[in-house]
Amino acid sequence: MDKSQGVSRVLISEEQIEAEIASMAAELDAEYQDETPLVICVLRGAVPFMADLVKAMSVPVEMDFMAISSYGNSTKSSGVVRILKDLDEEIENRRLIVVEDIVDSGLTLQYLLGHLGRRGPKDIRVVAMVKKEKPDAIAVQVDRIGFVVPDEFVVGYGLDYRGQYRNLPYIGVLDPSVYADVDDPVDETEY
Ligand code: IMP
Repeated sequence: MDKSQGVSRVLISEEQIEAEIASMAAELDAEYQDETPLVICVLRGAVPFMADLVKAMSVPVEMDFMAISSYGNSTKSSGVVRILKDLDEEIENRRLIVVEDIVDSGLTLQYLLGHLGRRGPKDIRVVAMVKKEKPDAIAVQVDRIGFVVPDEFVVGYGLDYRGQYRNLPYIGVLDPSVYADVDDPVDETEY
């Protein structure tokens, strides 16, 4: 089976992603001159994005990882979040860059920012590869968005459907027929 099976169309090409990351990295370099920010990756979806972003940056960075899960079905998040793996680093007084794969309802990010904010970082910047165009999304801090996509289920470049499609080098729309027969199963989704 080919890894792109079930993808109905490419939304954002590999070349577009590469160009956007170069521009994001240049902005971050300017912001964090003479500093070493702590880049926080939310496992697992943000791994390809974080890897490409930190390589494109010139300033030194440190990296840390969090794993969270949301109770909900596989294509919608519920906002009820559980921490599966917390940060290893102390973040008090540090400058944080939170790297997110996708902001959909915004609930996960809101929870995460509350969690990090209580530990007294110097500041937090949120960089998201993708934001969904969703009128009912909550207002949550996102400082830099790579791409705004229509409200469809997208996969690739870290984004998965049931654990698959993460290693597509582009972002594409998942054909709804792939999940049409899923009877809204309430399972636990790890990002
Ligand atoms: P939110 O809490 O609704 O903003 O959802 C955030 C999380 O839901 C993301 O980090 C993804 O793991 C997952 N998610 C939401 N929409 C999509 C999608 O279109 N494709 C893949 N994952 C998604």
